[in-house]
Amino acid sequence: QPARVTVVGSSNADLAVTMPRLPGPGETLLAHSFTVSPGGKGANQALAAALAGAPTEFIGAVGRDANAEEALRLLREAGVELGRVRTVDGPTGVALISIDDRGENSIAVVPGANGTVTADFVREVGGGDGAAGLGGVVVLQGEIPAEAVEEAVRQAAVGGARVVLNLAPVIELAREAVLAADPLVANEHEAALVLEMLGAPVAADADAETMARELCARGLRSVVITLGAAGSLVAELDRIEHDGGPGQSGEPTLTRVEAVRVSAVDTTGAGDAYTGALAARLAHGDSLVEAAGFAARFSAASVTRPGAQASYPRSLDEVDAL
Ligand code: RIB
Ligand code: NA
Repeated sequence: QPARVTVVGSSNADLAVTMPRLPGPGETLLAHSFTVSPGGKGANQALAAALAGAPTEFIGAVGRDANAEEALRLLREAGVELGRVRTVDGPTGVALISIDDRGENSIAVVPGANGTVTADFVREVGGGDGAAGLGGVVVLQGEIPAEAVEEAVRQAAVGGARVVLNLAPVIELAREAVLAADPLVANEHEAALVLEMLGAPVAADADAETMARELCARGLRSVVITLGAAGSLVAELDRIEHDGGPGQSGEPTLTRVEAVRVSAVDTTGAGDAYTGALAARLAHGDSLVEAAGFAARFSAASVTRPGAQASYPRSLDEVDAL
């Protein structure tokens, strides 16, 4: 029986346009298509975790508008627990997404209801002070206010949960919150920003190995740096030598995990698919390296189809086949 995955985060309606190439400033282009579909990094991660086989809860907020139902539609269909999603006055989060013929995208997010996910709200869903907190595996990202992410980390500590932190986008977080991650999941760009936040800026051309080592030296217990077509780099401190909890530092073991080659149709939400699937496999008791291998296959499958959540693999046979 896998542990429960709880995602505290954002949910959006994705307003997506496909077009030959991304327009420049002041330019008007004719697009191929327009769709509205469920997205938001938190909700995407929750769906991925559920489809990867973990009992999953999503905690967040939607507005009182037509987009609210759409934003949660696929989570509902997949049986993700939504009992602690709050409906607030104002609009549901919206993402304006442009996707070019090579599958590259550019995204503007209007937080809407996601901006109302405050520390108080998270404390309440954790059961209030002195209550059980959040258990299992807690997944967090950067699309809700920093104070909510920090409170979720506190609730995870109370409940003894493992925190998977995908700081996308990178927001300014208290040091203890960043160091509670096990793992921090970041691309190279995000890893550099997190190092800067931890007071250890690296050279612009620093490689993933250097950044992973430096993050562990700064007190992270484990780090996954995603490298797109080059796979990912998993860095982990020895769990027996360093079981003093977050804030330990030392020399990590580095493992390169291969990417899966697919032809990209739409990469939107591929990083969220990766994080959600990784969390689900950790909830099943996989090692971090095993989980990273599974996550690479799961997210590769998502890249072959349009959309974010809509593109996530519904059958694990498809994931295994990669
Ligand atoms: O990571 C992809 C997601 O970013 C999209 O679903 C969009 O909603 C934005 O939050
Ligand atoms: Na996709």
